[in-house]
Amino acid sequence: MQPKIQVKNVTKVFGDHPERALELLDEGLGRKEILQRTGQTVGIQNVCFDVAQGEILVVMGLSGCGKSTLIRCLNRLIEPTSGEVVIDGEDILKLSNEKVLERRRRKFGMVFQNFALFPHRTILDNAGFGLEIGGADKATRDAKATEALKLVGLDGWEQSYPSQLSGGMQQRVGLARALAVDPDILLMDEAFSALDPLIRRDMQDELLALQSRVKKTIVFITHDLDEALRLGDRIVLMKDGYVVQIGTPEDILTSPATRYVERFVEDVDKTQVLTAGALMHDPKIRVTPNDGPRTALHKMDQESFYSVFVTQRDGTLEGYVWAEDAAEAVKRKEKTLEGLIQRDHYAVKPDESLGTLFQMLVDTRIPLAVVDDHGKLLGTIVKTQVLAALADAQPDRENTNEEEGEPAQTQEAPDAKVGA
Ligand SMILES: Nc1ncnc2c1ncn2[C@@H]1O[C@H](COP(=O)(O)OP(=O)(O)OP(=O)(O)O)[C@@H](O)[C@H]1O
Ligand SMILES: [Mg+2]
Repeated sequence: MQPKIQVKNVTKVFGDHPERALELLDEGLGRKEILQRTGQTVGIQNVCFDVAQGEILVVMGLSGCGKSTLIRCLNRLIEPTSGEVVIDGEDILKLSNEKVLERRRRKFGMVFQNFALFPHRTILDNAGFGLEIGGADKATRDAKATEALKLVGLDGWEQSYPSQLSGGMQQRVGLARALAVDPDILLMDEAFSALDPLIRRDMQDELLALQSRVKKTIVFITHDLDEALRLGDRIVLMKDGYVVQIGTPEDILTSPATRYVERFVEDVDKTQVLTAGALMHDPKIRVTPNDGPRTALHKMDQESFYSVFVTQRDGTLEGYVWAEDAAEAVKRKEKTLEGLIQRDHYAVKPDESLGTLFQMLVDTRIPLAVVDDHGKLLGTIVKTQVLAALADAQPDRENTNEEEGEPAQTQEAPDAKVGA
């Protein structure tokens, strides 16, 4: 499918002589030197990425790295110096001003930090403002604004004035204003940054809930890594005007591309971000209830496993069987595994966080089963993998382990090995 947004080599130079800066950029000079030599400020340089329809792409980086410049280039509120911005297959940098204005109104909604509401307009009129600019009549405006306010949880506040609303609620009006025009694309620049932490988390949750219903394409800017990790399907990490890394939250955490990214992610509690889906491995072996004990035993033997998960033919997880029990059943000449299946295993969904998994692994002698919504076995997680991920997440702890005498792995019971 064609990406909703394609950003191709976009560069923005602020100043009267961008061509000088472009030359020096080509020669490989950095932002600082270019400013010293030419007086031109490189806002962003050679930025490339795609945004898929329905995706939340988060752009993050420190203050001044070019986030706002980038997001404003997407709807030409800032005119890029070079490059292409392709929206739905159309390079909007090639459009006439008139057309750009039309596209901007129809396709984009914007939400900023400290969203300025009109103090003397009602909440309803504030939410309908984008439609008003677009020339919609009062009845249409009110109908759509009412609906948008409902989406952000503000029904009942239509006739109030901004001063009567808390900061968080005002920010929701900003979101409603953007949603009221029913844009395909939402551009959100530090939209939640001015809110206090608890309200900010609520807003993040609500945005995710909203997104699962309305399926917009969202470019969300933040300088907060936790926010980026919570919201982003993918994250674009920027530094000094260029892109350092693009990847899923897990990519960024588990394989930071540079020392810069590494420093960014050092403080994050990875146990909250790494998920079962990221940690699981294919179950190497599995059996069905109708398999014989000898078959099961043979499969376990081959992998030196002490137990094996049992699934139906369609993959639905039933339970597991101990190698010991299978061996006994062979002696008793039993034909199937039916009577041997244990069901006290943990089954988790792929989005379960490492923190929770760790608790379960402490409790169980067999691996965790990762299942989909229909209960089908997707993969397994063994203790050693989780410990490795945790050790990786907390490099400072390495020394502590040594003091305790034994490396973590040897404490793992041998029976913890199953189909991993
Ligand atoms: N209109 C402008 N004229 C000149 N320089 C500008 C202009 N707008 C931005 N810049 C410069 O471009 C660079 C990137 O600025 P930008 O506002 O995009 O950063 P940002 O990542 O959004 O920062 P923040 O997190 O503080 O909002 C900065 O060096 C800034 O000074
Ligand atoms: Mg900014």
